[in-house]
Amino acid sequence: MAIYLHWIIIAFLAASADAATTYTVGDATGWAVPTNISFYDNWVADKSFEPGDSLVFNWTSTHNVLEVTSKAEYDSCTKTNGILNETSPVTINLTANGTLYFICTIGPHCTLGQKVTIKVGNGVSTSPPPSNSANPPFTISAFWPLLSAILMYFFASPAHIVY
Ligand SMILES: *[C@@H]1O[C@H](CO)[C@@H](O)[C@H](O)[C@H]1NC(C)=O
Ligand SMILES: *[C@@H]1O[C@H](CO)[C@@H](O)[C@H](O)[C@H]1NC(C)=O
Ligand SMILES: *[C@@H]1O[C@H](CO)[C@@H](O)[C@H](O)[C@H]1NC(C)=O
Ligand SMILES: *[C@@H]1O[C@H](CO)[C@@H](O)[C@H](O)[C@H]1NC(C)=O
Ligand SMILES: *[C@@H]1O[C@H](CO)[C@@H](O)[C@H](O)[C@H]1NC(C)=O
Repeated sequence: MAIYLHWIIIAFLAASADAATTYTVGDATGWAVPTNISFYDNWVADKSFEPGDSLVFNWTSTHNVLEVTSKAEYDSCTKTNGILNETSPVTINLTANGTLYFICTIGPHCTLGQKVTIKVGNGVSTSPPPSNSANPPFTISAFWPLLSAILMYFFASPAHIVY
């Protein structure tokens, strides 16, 4: 019995240790006006972003990061809505499936290709916010009282010691 429980614990720990990746947007180019308008599309093309990963927008000259609120705003480089961060580096934690749109609002930078679409997981945001989603650490801590209760039952009960 105890051996099975060890395997269950190991499985929980493995699930909670799921590798999180930190991506520097644009890699060595960083967050800049690209020479190729498709540069950031190409940059995301071979990546699959998952909840738990994070993005780092890193730049040196005059840029910023606006997370716009829709694809329409992204496509048209609309600079008026969303969350603006103006100090490099900007770290964005990817917390749930969904599609995020980031642009630079300086001059024509967005139109010139300084914009990136990040599809997290399947890219579909589920309606209930992530606040009530059970995470592995909670599962483990909830599991310990159950484990001790089971072990105490087996070791403390005379009926079982007979076997
Ligand atoms: C821009 O990138 C696309 C896609 O990789 C490529 O087909 C195109 O040739 C590039 N354009 C230039 C000017 O490098
Ligand atoms: C940010 O850019 C600077 C200068 O290009 C570089 O030295 C630094 O390593 C970069 N940081 C990250 C997290 O990419
Ligand atoms: C980005 O800006 C928002 C809104 O002002 C702020 O809450 C957040 O802490 C900023 N994030 C970073 C990484 O600076
Ligand atoms: C992102 O995650 C890091 C490490 O988990 C944390 O220190 C940081 O506060 C988080 N940032 C935001 C904006 O939640
Ligand atoms: C998130 O996307 C992944 C595919 O990348 C999918 O397997 C998973 O079920 C999605 N999670 C939710 C909560 O929709």
